[in-house]
Formats: sequence, C-alpha cells, structure tokens
Amino acid sequence: MSTHSQTTSVTSLAIRNAKGKRKLTMLTAYDYSSASLVDACGIDMLLVGDSLGMVMLGREDTIGVTMDEMIHHCRAVTRGATRPLVIADMPFMSYEPGVETAMTNAARLFQEGNVRAVKLEGGSEIVPQVRALVQAGIPVVGHIGLTPQRVATLGGFKVQGKTADAARRLEADALALVEAGVFCLVLEAIPAAIAGRITKSIPVPTIGIGAGGDCDGQVLVFHDLLGLFDRFVPKFVKQYANLREIAVEAINAYRNDVETGTFPGPEHTFRMNEGEEDKLED
Ligand code: KIV
Repeated sequence: MSTHSQTTSVTSLAIRNAKGKRKLTMLTAYDYSSASLVDACGIDMLLVGDSLGMVMLGREDTIGVTMDEMIHHCRAVTRGATRPLVIADMPFMSYEPGVETAMTNAARLFQEGNVRAVKLEGGSEIVPQVRALVQAGIPVVGHIGLTPQRVATLGGFKVQGKTADAARRLEADALALVEAGVFCLVLEAIPAAIAGRITKSIPVPTIGIGAGGDCDGQVLVFHDLLGLFDRFVPKFVKQYANLREIAVEAINAYRNDVETGTFPGPEHTFRMNEGEEDKLED
C-alpha cells in the first residue's frame, strides 16, 4: 500500500496555479479517521461537504445541515489532515440572506472549524457574498450545475445544463463567479461538453463530479468511492472498493465469535500478578 509523505500544506494559490499543469484531486471527509486516510494518500483538497447530512447523519438531503454541525465535523477533520487544503461547505441559508450573514458564518468556519477555504453553491446571485469573502481574505470555491441545497427548486437530484439556454446560463455563472474571485469551481452533474467549454473559458481550475473528463480535477464523496453508502449510487460514481461488504463480514464474524465463546481469547485477556489470585477469598 502506498501512502504519500509530502507534508507541506496545499494552499488555495497552489490550486489556482495548477490549472493546465496537472490534474487536481478532491475528496470529501467528515471526521478524524477519514481525514487522516485522505491525508495519507496525497489528495490535494479535502472537502467537508454538507453531504455529511446524508452519508453521516442519514438525512434525505443536505438542507437540514446546520453551522454547528459543520463546525463540529470541520474540527475533527482538521485534526486528522494537515497536508490537503481543507474546504468547508457553507450550509443552506448560511450565506443566501446576504453579505453580512455570509461573512459571519465563513468566519466561524475559519476560526472555530480551522478550515482554510469555503464552498458556496450558486451562480451570479451570490456574487456579492463571494466578492466580500474573497476581499476579507477567505478563499472561495464556487459550485454550479446540480446544487443539492436547491433540490426543492430543481425538482430532485437531476442533471443540469441539458439545453443550450441552460448551458449558456451555466457559462455566464462560471464567468461571474471567477470575476468575483473564486479560486476553483465545482461542476456537478452537467454534460461533459458544457464542462469542457467552461474549463476552457475560465482561468481557474474546474473540479468535476458527474461532469466528464475534461475538467481540471475531480471530486468524489468518500463513502461513494469506498462503497460505504448503499442507499443510492449515482451514475457518476466509481466505487473503488466495497468496504460495506467487508465491514458486514467482519461484524458478523465478531458476533459469531462472541456468541460461540471464541472471543476474547487468551491473547486478549489480562492476568493478575503471579500468586495474587490465590490471596483472594472464595
Ligand atoms: O457536499 C458535497 O459532498 C459536495 C460534493 C459532492 C462536491 O458538495
């Protein structure tokens, strides 16, 4: 098994400057253990995604995720990962109401959650918030296409940008976000042709998820990559392992060992000092 030994922390500037030079990697993680795995593998960016509402907390969507929940998970992640750039999703309604709300909540993710960038879902309508955060020294990742926080208005988890009009709107959103100062842009669930056009037309890296191979980098959800989440598997997911199957087998073996008295064995058991047990009364 190969692990990555580089220890210098990845910066938003390094990500921005990698455009056109190499492919970038981003993976979500939500706690200390998953973050330390991502750290060991040389992944460039670690996203504390609000997908935690679904894969960690079992909710139907990401809408219910709160700032306090995000901060709780960000603190655990930043204890486990020192090399990747750790980015926090700004949860639903933590930035939409306006610049002041966005500034207050991004500051909390920085100061209490210890992350070094934030991600906001949305296009031209959130430009004032993005601009203010960047001017205040908070690196921002944009996110357009399928934006799960808007699942109610999008009518479900559906591929976006399938018509020329919708594609043009996505291209305009990408340009507006770049102009506002994002250092990279997540493109979720859009046709590969549109992702390719956006990637060519903007100076910052695009990070695709369900957006084809022409993006400057890719992101996956930790639980999807490892086969830990079986409620549904989107078409764009590649499962690199089926850890759920391995875990079920291991837990069943443990139950069986306990029920049959095979575990714990002598090697898992502590002994009193020589002769001490004999001094105890019956
Ligand atoms: O919340 C999340 O995990 C995300 C990624 C899918 C990009 O936003």
